[in-house]
Amino acid sequence: MRLAVIGNPVAHSRSPQIHARFAEASRHAVDYIRIEAPLDGFAATVRAFADAGARGCNVTVPFKGEAFAACARLSERARRAEAVNTIAFEADGWFGDNTDGVGLVRDIELNAGVPLRGKRVLVLGAGGAAAGALDPLLAARPAALVVANRTPSKAQDLIERFAASAARLDVPLSSAALEAPGAGFDVLINATAASLQAAVPPLPAGTLAPGALALDMMYGAAALPFLRWARAQGAVARDGLGMLVEQAAEAWFVWMGVRPGTFQLLTELRREVDAQAKAAERGAAA
Ligand code: ATR
Repeated sequence: MRLAVIGNPVAHSRSPQIHARFAEASRHAVDYIRIEAPLDGFAATVRAFADAGARGCNVTVPFKGEAFAACARLSERARRAEAVNTIAFEADGWFGDNTDGVGLVRDIELNAGVPLRGKRVLVLGAGGAAAGALDPLLAARPAALVVANRTPSKAQDLIERFAASAARLDVPLSSAALEAPGAGFDVLINATAASLQAAVPPLPAGTLAPGALALDMMYGAAALPFLRWARAQGAVARDGLGMLVEQAAEAWFVWMGVRPGTFQLLTELRREVDAQAKAAERGAAA
């Protein structure tokens, strides 16, 4: 069975390594490759891969919006996120799903052991990464969900897309500016691109409740400034590695109909990524 991750750049994607492990564990013969699509050639690249008999693909930066537009059918969570990270090539056309948010929620609830029900949750950012997270976060029934963004109007636009779901689930959903998100959150999720610039969003003191969970969707060296900041606030700091593995497991489920175990793989990857992040930091300091 042929699968791929399609992005640009894509050289550093860990998805082939993760899916090779899922294949090994389930004794599936899977060939999962990286494909770098030209920036103006995403749809043609996917079509060529599908025509060659592949089962599906993952989609990463910067093509999740284009993938959304290219699919004939969409899951409800992909439709609302307006972003697709998993495509299954079906007889009746391409089916697009978004497994990022459910991967995030599974990592928080199952791997970090923090049930979201009844918690106060703050999401930072209003781009595609935040959009993908909102449906599964709402479904987990927090006591409140606040989306705070550097440009507050974008956070407001984003939550309006999810207002009907929030009302149906009876979850108060609101938007805020980064400088005034409210206080005492139990869970903080950094879905901004700030970590790519080694920046930490400027949250006021008291944003987090004591012992809160603070998670950055990034992992490796990029996540370190946020993780350090989180620990200095007295929070439990977590990077995006578990989310990465869980979104992959959910994508595998979309293609194969079974969900692979993730615990051992995550433990091993954690060791590898932490060692590499420390080495990168030592290199940067030298
Ligand atoms: P993605 O698809 O990864 O979410 P995006 O759609 O470009 O990427 O969104 C990036 C998000 O990170 C936005 O919410 C952006 O804030 P603005 O809407 O104000 O641009 C946020 N962001 C990027 N750099 C940031 C920084 N240094 N501090 C705080 N927020 C930042």
